[in-house]
Amino acid sequence: MGLKGIILAGGLGKRLYPLTKITNKHLLPVHDKPMIYYPIRTLVDAGITDILIVTGGNHAGEFLRLLGNGKEFGLKHINYAYQEGEGGIAEALRLAEHFADKDRIVVILGDNIIEKGIKASVDDFMKQRKGAKILLKEVEDPERFGVPELDGKKIIGIEEKPEKPRSKYAVTGIYMYDNDVFEIIRELKPSSRGELEITDVNNAYIKRGELTYSILDGWWTDAGTFESLLRANNLVAGKEAK
Ligand code: G1P
Repeated sequence: MGLKGIILAGGLGKRLYPLTKITNKHLLPVHDKPMIYYPIRTLVDAGITDILIVTGGNHAGEFLRLLGNGKEFGLKHINYAYQEGEGGIAEALRLAEHFADKDRIVVILGDNIIEKGIKASVDDFMKQRKGAKILLKEVEDPERFGVPELDGKKIIGIEEKPEKPRSKYAVTGIYMYDNDVFEIIRELKPSSRGELEITDVNNAYIKRGELTYSILDGWWTDAGTFESLLRANNLVAGKEAK
């Protein structure tokens, strides 16, 4: 059983208007590189070199111009898929079914940037007989994210952007799934905002008793709002100054 990487880089990036009127969010600069460079690096550093980028919207062609075959990352080839419309994260992931084939996958949201690596967690996941694994990080504003409710070593449920978070952790945008994920997505119903939610995918794994987690080491940020984009720039610049 192999392992493949999927970067979700679609969406309209409406929270960053007008920046994203003329480009895709994941092509915006974060310190000295386009945003998408960071999740690619995260996968490659974890030993994952078979990578699919799912994008969409009006600026999808620019990814090919920017990344080509991935030579800058030591890759020989990058796969691309195009998402029509705005159906949510799980809907975008559905486009990866053919690419994943029979393998397991590591999914990373294109605006998630981390200080360190995920190799140890990925190795743990590959030892797991089946199921999924997510990465959590303690944050000051959990209500902005998917938030897990913990009972000892187990996650008993995840709420998407809850008013009253049941823990101080965010579910980061780095998810590891076995091949059942595509069957789970097929059974999902759209949420109140009309999207197929990744949180519902993770809750389905909880129901099966097959979701594990680890706590991410080092800092983590997303970059989908003006505040978090600035934070991402500062964190990356600070890391490189070290
Ligand atoms: C998405 C997920 C959320 C997760 C976050 C991490 O939120 O829905 O569960 O915590 O990514 O970046 P979004 O950034 O789409 O609001």
